[in-house]
Amino acid sequence: MAFPQTRLRRLRTTPGLRTLVRETTLSASDFIYPLFVRHGRGVYAEIPAMPGVYHLSVDRLRDEAAEIAALGIPAVLLFGLPAIKDGIGSENFAPDGIVQQAIRTLKDAQPELVVVTDVCMCEYTDHGHCGLVRDGRVLNDETLDILSAVALSHAEAGADILAPSGMMDGMVRALRTALDCDGYADVSIMSYAVKYASSFYGPFREAAGSRMQFGDRHTYQMDPANAREALREARLDVEEGADMLIVKPATAYLDMVRRVRDTFDLPLAAYNVSGEYSMVKAAAANGWLDERKIALEQLTGIKRAGADMIITYWAKDAARWLNE
Ligand code: PBG
Repeated sequence: MAFPQTRLRRLRTTPGLRTLVRETTLSASDFIYPLFVRHGRGVYAEIPAMPGVYHLSVDRLRDEAAEIAALGIPAVLLFGLPAIKDGIGSENFAPDGIVQQAIRTLKDAQPELVVVTDVCMCEYTDHGHCGLVRDGRVLNDETLDILSAVALSHAEAGADILAPSGMMDGMVRALRTALDCDGYADVSIMSYAVKYASSFYGPFREAAGSRMQFGDRHTYQMDPANAREALREARLDVEEGADMLIVKPATAYLDMVRRVRDTFDLPLAAYNVSGEYSMVKAAAANGWLDERKIALEQLTGIKRAGADMIITYWAKDAARWLNE
């Protein structure tokens, strides 16, 4: 039966009806909250390009973790700012490195809070690339050895999930092998399987101090124009032993969230990255957009596209808004 018998507006008549037929719902349990940890004491420094997001020292993590857990957010994603950067990113796999300290503190403070760590080199290397560099080229297989050492140091410190983000070929297999050989068969791998060479990472690179000293990331991160290739990336990571997949960024890549969701059965996260956040913050500061409404609309769109989890800087705010 077509119009006038069929009237789709009928089910939009009242808030109650709209709630009843809503297909996608967001909740605090969907979110993973990124944390930027750095050396020092009492540090709680707002990141200029990402208002509302802070650099924290390890001693501030207990209060932070309690707040996150109380909001019903199940997981955090850790990024570290090392004391010193060098060619191989030594602090990245140091037993007392900044992230390793953070993991121990978080696990002690909130054992139930899931700790995910970013396994990559770019925050730790003086050149800012995600792998070892020789003659101006980013090396693949040599990088895997370092990433394995990083993974083991995170597992040893107590991380629940490792998230390799460097887009090196074979990184999932390298991590899985290293973890299994060293007795960490229970540590999961959430692979940044589909990570595009995106300009939406700009504010993050400010926050993480990971701006490249030369070149760009186009020889390892994906061309934003490619979709089939994303499925090859995801398939390889599944075969190599990934437990979960990530598509990143989120809003300009919702087609890939949907395609990965439809093609693979693994839990899927979408990373609502720094540029997506900062654009809305800037527009809201100008009075051009309503931050809360825009953020919730975008997060709903990401979930509707098929993400099970969303890594987002809005996690705490969105949890508060949703809990109201
Ligand atoms: C790098 C990494 C990046 C992000 C997360 N892990 C940046 C990059 O590839 O340069 C970006 C996150 C964001 O923009 O919010 N290992």
